Amino acid sequence: MARIGLFYGTTTGKTEMVAESIQQEFGGESMVALHEIGGAEASEFDDYDCIIVGCPTWDVGELQSDWQGFYEEELSRVNFGGKKVAYFGTGDQIGYPDNFQDAMGILEEKIAGLGGKTVGYWGVDSYDFNESRAVKRASLWV
Ligand SMILES: Cc1cc2nc3c(=O)[nH]c(=O)nc-3n(C[C@H](O)[C@H](O)[C@H](O)COP(=O)(O)O)c2cc1C
Repeated sequence: MARIGLFYGTTTGKTEMVAESIQQEFGGESMVALHEIGGAEASEFDDYDCIIVGCPTWDVGELQSDWQGFYEEELSRVNFGGKKVAYFGTGDQIGYPDNFQDAMGILEEKIAGLGGKTVGYWGVDSYDFNESRAVKRASLWV
């Protein structure tokens, strides 16, 4: 059993490519198991203490469609208590500067409320956008 479960959604394939890169960087399938969220069930999260969530933002500040379905139907059934959860997304800071990577923030808000401990905050210095629900602390807002 891999030590980390990476749950991702993708519509045009970019987030899947990033998910595969993360898997390779961490050492391959023995370390990170990939789960496409469209075919996932809440119970699959039980297998891991460490989780990575990957979601692109679509439709101006919304979750990717498979994540949207999981959010509505399944997510509240996942027991995130005691689990570490890191997040990544893909998005477009030029085309959608007022909603850049909002999906990452939407999922973090929900999952943190279900007991998941957010890890892996990353600075925003190298990005250029106006607003994002993914920005969680003023000190990161440079
Ligand atoms: C119609 C449309 C709406 C989008 N809306 C947003 C958005 O609100 N915020 C954002 O950061 N990116 C937005 N994007 C960019 C996508 O998130 C980006 O292309 C992403 O890499 C797609 O991921 P996927 O290939 O895994 O589906 C949008 C793209 C399209 C085509």
